[in-house]
Amino acid sequence: MNIDSKYIRNQFPILEQLVNGKPLVYLDNAATSQKPLSVLDAEEVYYKTINSNVHRGIHTLSQLATVEMEESRKSVQLFINAKKDYEILFTKGTTEGINLVASGIEPLVHEGDEIIISNLEHHSNIVPWQLLAERKGLVLKVIPIDDNGELILSEYDKLLTEKTKIVAVNHISNALGVVNPVEQIITKAHAVGAYVLIDGAQAVPHKEIDVQALDADFYVFSSHKIYGPTGVGILYGKEKLLDAMNPYQGGGEMIKEVSFEKTTYADLPFKFEAGTPNIAGNIALKKAIEFMLNVGLDTIGKHENNILNYATERLNELNNITIYAQHAQHRSGAISFNLNIDNIHSSDVGFILDKQGIAVRTGHHCAQPVMKRLGITGTIRASFAVYTSKEDIDRLIEGLKLAQKMLE
Ligand code: ALA
Repeated sequence: MNIDSKYIRNQFPILEQLVNGKPLVYLDNAATSQKPLSVLDAEEVYYKTINSNVHRGIHTLSQLATVEMEESRKSVQLFINAKKDYEILFTKGTTEGINLVASGIEPLVHEGDEIIISNLEHHSNIVPWQLLAERKGLVLKVIPIDDNGELILSEYDKLLTEKTKIVAVNHISNALGVVNPVEQIITKAHAVGAYVLIDGAQAVPHKEIDVQALDADFYVFSSHKIYGPTGVGILYGKEKLLDAMNPYQGGGEMIKEVSFEKTTYADLPFKFEAGTPNIAGNIALKKAIEFMLNVGLDTIGKHENNILNYATERLNELNNITIYAQHAQHRSGAISFNLNIDNIHSSDVGFILDKQGIAVRTGHHCAQPVMKRLGITGTIRASFAVYTSKEDIDRLIEGLKLAQKMLE
């Protein structure tokens, strides 16, 4: 099915404004996507009608808020096909989800155990593992990437040993848009008895995820990249592992009983949800999921792939441009490139594009090891969403031509 672009764009009033006097072209969706009216309304309705604390009150508003938040958890469960709703934990975002696992998993790892990550990771899927490695005396190993920005799987095979305890990789690279073969990565990790965490922050916006089919032990993503509110994330974890892990934070609602001698912890998911959560955001996430399901995950994916192909084609029409990972087998959601002009930084181009009302991200994209591997300091990244149109790409190309004229 084709996208009804008028219908879709009508749901995102933010897109209808002028920025620096020009109609906005928003191509920074990998950083955060815009929110449809249904999500904005859900937050407002919550605060106007049932604002109260969840899981704590006998009073009506608290009960209504609790029901809505738990219904949202259920909708996430169905969205990614988790077995149980209590395997879905609300977090602040992908970063917190990864930190939660890297901290909570301490009882399951021992000195000398090995963690494998990849050269393609966002800092949030590197630093928490470095911290865990330092705390527990673990060894961190890195799957290298080739010149296409793809993981070298033969090297992964060599890194896997019976000491491998954790493999943590992204599903889609935020810096290059490369789709990683996570199915294979998971199968191979399980063959040596390792647990696998998939950073799905850039995948859930673009494709259907089935955590049971993937057999991922942990799958993390952010609401704000799938048209939902900021400050909300999801950590899916297998029940058995979550049960065996330490709580991440101590506080209210995560306990069964507290005494000065001994504290016992609440059952899942509450053991990992200390403190008052982002209730409005957690509730509104359900509307974001409904929005995606109404359009159709397949339809969204196909539309964005068409846009990616069109962008690749049009960018290649420009002279003196380097497009990264364009020959990778599978790409999705984003394209990274640089204009080949001496002594400029990607942000110089980003600045000129911004003056044309075009929003892209420039720099290292919180993935410095990727930049180092490519021998550059940063890229210009255009990233797509369901509302991105070919006209947006045409405007990007015009903006880049202007940048070339001004900077060359
Ligand atoms: N991780 C987000 C990005 O890639 C913020 O832009």
